[in-house]
Amino acid sequence: MIFQKETYFHITTEHLSYLIGIRANKYPETLYFGKRIPGPVDITPLMEKFGSGYGNTVSIGEEEKEMTLDNICLEFSNAGCGDYRIMPMELEFADRSCSTRFFYKEHHIYEGIYQNTELTGMPHARLHEEERTDTLELVLEDQNKGLLLTLVYTAFEKTDVITRRMVLKNELGEAVSIRRLMSMELDLPATDYEWNTFDGLWARERHRNKKELISGTYVNESTNGTSSNRHNPFVMITRKGCSETQGECIGINLIYSGNHYEAAEVSEYGKVRMVSGLHFHNMNWRLAPGESFYTPEAVVSFSDKGCNGLSDQLHQFVLQHIIPPAFAEKDRPVLVNNWEATYFNFNQAKLLGLAKEAGKLGIELFVLDDGWFGEREDDTSSLGDWTVNESKLGCTLRELSEKIKREGLSFGLWMEPEMVSENSKLYREHPEWAVMVPGREAYLGRNQLLLDYTNPAVREYIKNTLTNLLKSADISYVKWDMNRPLTDAYSVEQRLGNGEFYHRYVLGLYEVFEYLTNTFPDILFEGCSAGGNRFDLGMLYYMPQIWTSDDTDPHERMMIQEGTSYGYPLSTMGAHVSCAPNHQTLRNISLETRFQVACFGDLGYELDLTKLTMAEKKIMKNQIAFYKEHRHLFQYGDFSRSRMHNGNILWQVTAKDKSEAVILAYSMRGGANKSDDIIKAVNLKSDALYQISARTCAISIKEFGNLVNQISPVNIKEEGVLQSVVNKVYTLESEKEEYQMSGAMLQYAGMKPKQRFVGTGYNEMTRVMGDDSSRLYVIKEIKEESVEEQEDGPVSEDI
Ligand code: DGJ
Repeated sequence: MIFQKETYFHITTEHLSYLIGIRANKYPETLYFGKRIPGPVDITPLMEKFGSGYGNTVSIGEEEKEMTLDNICLEFSNAGCGDYRIMPMELEFADRSCSTRFFYKEHHIYEGIYQNTELTGMPHARLHEEERTDTLELVLEDQNKGLLLTLVYTAFEKTDVITRRMVLKNELGEAVSIRRLMSMELDLPATDYEWNTFDGLWARERHRNKKELISGTYVNESTNGTSSNRHNPFVMITRKGCSETQGECIGINLIYSGNHYEAAEVSEYGKVRMVSGLHFHNMNWRLAPGESFYTPEAVVSFSDKGCNGLSDQLHQFVLQHIIPPAFAEKDRPVLVNNWEATYFNFNQAKLLGLAKEAGKLGIELFVLDDGWFGEREDDTSSLGDWTVNESKLGCTLRELSEKIKREGLSFGLWMEPEMVSENSKLYREHPEWAVMVPGREAYLGRNQLLLDYTNPAVREYIKNTLTNLLKSADISYVKWDMNRPLTDAYSVEQRLGNGEFYHRYVLGLYEVFEYLTNTFPDILFEGCSAGGNRFDLGMLYYMPQIWTSDDTDPHERMMIQEGTSYGYPLSTMGAHVSCAPNHQTLRNISLETRFQVACFGDLGYELDLTKLTMAEKKIMKNQIAFYKEHRHLFQYGDFSRSRMHNGNILWQVTAKDKSEAVILAYSMRGGANKSDDIIKAVNLKSDALYQISARTCAISIKEFGNLVNQISPVNIKEEGVLQSVVNKVYTLESEKEEYQMSGAMLQYAGMKPKQRFVGTGYNEMTRVMGDDSSRLYVIKEIKEESVEEQEDGPVSEDI
């Protein structure tokens, strides 16, 4: 809800209050942002006080003569006013001056989302029938009279999110140059915070990094044209002491897929300013008279229930307001992707062999990855030529999709439509469609150039070509890849330079996505950019899931998926089981652990299924059946992160009604003679009775090395023929473990699992866990019995 009283606005959601006052009838002052408070009777106690001044400042001489804009929490800061913190806006006027004086002019409050949303050309938070949504527009006018700046706030009642954006309208008689315009500025009157960012590179995306905010400016940014694997646009500010389960935190994200900038500045006066928005790297946007510039929508949420509480809110928000509604709660298919199974080296027989095995295992979707078009036999050619290589496939695409359907799978296709290879028909016909600066050497990334999506002719070509392609076969899924970052941001045909190119590229991309997703509403699109180089809310608005990372090593995935989970729900993360040793790290981690980590997302298999042993087939069949049984929980359950006292990792998905949960216990390091795990649940009903059972895993006899001879009647030589034969058909079963515990017991005391293998023997009481090993624990409410019946009776004499 949004209330206005005298000179202040109170934006509220179920658990959040945001108070903004209009100071001296001009300046929007941030009075409070945090846990919900009942409407104040008087805002004076929340206002910044100025007495005799702070020395060496610029005072603006309003009612309080010594008032300085450098030490006041503001919703928007003008340039050239003595506020020396990070600026949300930089303009250059025709006379080359840069100062602004935007002051409060008027406001509008209405139910629903921002009324000009459609004009922005960008993805945005959608309405949801079950959630009340209100918008406040605070309109500021520059003293020049002719420039209007609107600060837009939309409050989402149940998900506890407030979105923000700024819109600049030029009603001057001349053009203005925009050098920077953020989506939001948020000032907090304290400094005991930490700055959390999600950083990495290819194959190690979104690792959480936390820095204490001490002094100066902390920046999180991308300038490579995408939201990037280097620094995701999602950031968190956590109050010192905030953990997964308690404490205050604020999450900020951007519904945008290109260059972005987020920063937190600790002012020497003891405040923190945060901004988030489009990156201003080389920005120089000419805003002609009559035009408006819309910034992307930023998403802000607050929780006093720790990072898990914040994630819950953001996950719900993404599912209800970002993901295409038709897919928001839809179970995602278990898929097989041929990339790591074949790379470019495949033919029809190979693909059908994979599909046949996949069908037998219970896999539902077959994804044909790179290499099916043009003359592409490696990554040096054919991007842009989206014609099916029928001689390689041995049939048409429709025929192939039909054959795959006969194996019981639906059919999906990989494509990379933002790219062009120099060695392609398209490039030979239209070299001017590639992004480059004429007269300058063009640098390649993965041997390819970008297509100029700022050019309407290019967009039309892509729309038409892909429409024909997607109609040419029964395609239910598309993997949209993008494998190189932008350089030489310049449009040859439009003579559009760096200053506007980056943003116009993203707007062009969104136009193509809008068209294709409307034309093919039933196709499940999965975003991909060399793995997770473009994992953001802008992509998720069109593509309900994203390939989280090319790195499928479970050890790495623990960091990647966990980092991603702070801002994004599990159903958005593609997670595959691949072979061992892993192709990215050469780590050799068990098939069961590869699966148990991949369960926490949209499960897929990406390895050569035609080479599986009998034992592996059996394991995978069980895995897929188990995943399907718990699929909705894994994709849409409430997700929580925690740590055991010994540092081992716990992930948990819990049903909304708390009747079911699954816990992953992951041990990065086994250690010697250590068996101190405690499995503690979270988020259950304290007074309900639950059954907790360990999922039975298969354990390869290879894990025991030559120790196996201690129990085998015949000598089994390590790596010998016998070991290999036995291993192909036979595996051991992990320990059986099952208890009944109350929710309170499981959460406060936890369950001590069986002793780990420590080299002293092996029997049914032994839990075999080494480095990078895991267990899943399934928790189910037992509805018939109540905990009261289980309560301790009188103390027995026998004890
Ligand atoms: C990069 C993707 O992340 C991979 O999964 C695969 O699709 C390759 N591109 C294909 O070129």
